[in-house]
Amino acid sequence: MSFNLSRRGFIASSAALSAAPMMAGAKVADAPVAGPQNPLVKQRADAQVFRHDDGYYYLTGSVPEYDRLVLRRSRTIAGLATAPEAVLWRHEKSGPMSGFLWAPELHLIDGKWIVYFAAGPSGGGEDVFRIRTYAVVCDGPDPMTGRWTVLGELQTPWDSFNLDSTIFTHKGTRYIAWAQREPGIETNSNLYIAKLESPLKLAGKATRLTVPTLDWEIRGYKVAEAPAILHRNRRLFMTYSASATDARYCLGMLSADENSDLLDAKSWTKSPQPVFTTCKETSVFGPGHNSFTVDEQGRDVLVYHGRDYETIQGDPLLNPDRHTRVQRLYYTADGTPDFGVPVGNGPLPERFASAADAKLLLAHDGTRLIAGNPALAQTQFRQTPGRAGQQSVMLSPILMPGHYLVAGKDGSVTLEPDSKSADFALRSQFVRLTDARLSTVRFAAIAAPGKAIGVANGQIRLVRSRDAAARWRAD
Ligand code: AHR
Repeated sequence: MSFNLSRRGFIASSAALSAAPMMAGAKVADAPVAGPQNPLVKQRADAQVFRHDDGYYYLTGSVPEYDRLVLRRSRTIAGLATAPEAVLWRHEKSGPMSGFLWAPELHLIDGKWIVYFAAGPSGGGEDVFRIRTYAVVCDGPDPMTGRWTVLGELQTPWDSFNLDSTIFTHKGTRYIAWAQREPGIETNSNLYIAKLESPLKLAGKATRLTVPTLDWEIRGYKVAEAPAILHRNRRLFMTYSASATDARYCLGMLSADENSDLLDAKSWTKSPQPVFTTCKETSVFGPGHNSFTVDEQGRDVLVYHGRDYETIQGDPLLNPDRHTRVQRLYYTADGTPDFGVPVGNGPLPERFASAADAKLLLAHDGTRLIAGNPALAQTQFRQTPGRAGQQSVMLSPILMPGHYLVAGKDGSVTLEPDSKSADFALRSQFVRLTDARLSTVRFAAIAAPGKAIGVANGQIRLVRSRDAAARWRAD
């Protein structure tokens, strides 16, 4: 395919693009699949998203008013953004569940849909933080339409502040993990695990897994809460949220061998550093209270909340802008989850590995484009609609929004800020060509007929579009 473009002819070319002859084996251009955009759902904090074996994704989470339990369902993750939202249950008019409702989680337990949540009374003052864990149960098979009634209160080891329970099954045993304040330990909450005998009854002694003591766990408040479990690569990973719920909120992680005794605290190793924190470059602040799911291709997805501004007026707990966000979850060579950074608002980014050498990814080091495998965030690029008609796209690194890949006259490919010039508008336009047979994509440069982004002598350059060096595996 060739694009004979002069600067004058540039704008007119968008019409010509669609008439361009098909290249053998390549589509003219991808109509980008309408994947999820961040934020996925505004003002839904503490989000739990999971794909049930009925093929639907379910989403629940805290609402800013903390007065009701809600649920959404969709065939796709992206569809959760606009899916109708059912109100399953509202806080009571008085009593221990008449105030805050926090962090619901939906679970199917022995054929019954049950929502666990934390709740407190509405008496005002400090009493509203007399938070305990309760459950409601659905009377039928469809959680969206069934009738929900109170099942009762979770029996925990102490009559103290407890919240953020999650349920998981490992090797046929059902466990519950939760956050609780333990008498004699001066923290807001620590993490605990126990086997679950019945929905509201522990099957024996609880194990304390972690107490917030590290500097990044005790900023503002000494907090370890919101446990979430991921079983991958022969290990269990338990993420949790730490510190105050403002921009200092972050994720920590415990990991245990899949064959270890999960009720032995010594089985769990704590990452010394947080695994997921505020990122000013991508403008996501206070990422946390996560869950895990898989996308429609079965690839791991991290679900979490985060604000897109740093400074909060008033109590962060009463700030409504913790939005639900999603992003791909990758792994390091030893199978440990690599969280990278919160990727920021807009379409989800991708990574592009050279089909000629999988060790070489499209990456950048500051404004320098490189072919290599540096930190995850340096390899994530966001594709956005271009300015040469509907079939052109632009590529921007998530860490440098406002900078774009530009095809140089000299065959270079550089990262440039949007100068708003006609030359930038011409040279920052590419056409994404998918080669389904080879499972590769190419980015043909509209300003350089017959050329595409590729790897030459270990550098990111414009190469002949038909060369293998122009082929990338998107991930
Ligand atoms: O969002 C309400 C509470 O705030 C959640 O239960 C907890 O994880 C967070 O600190």
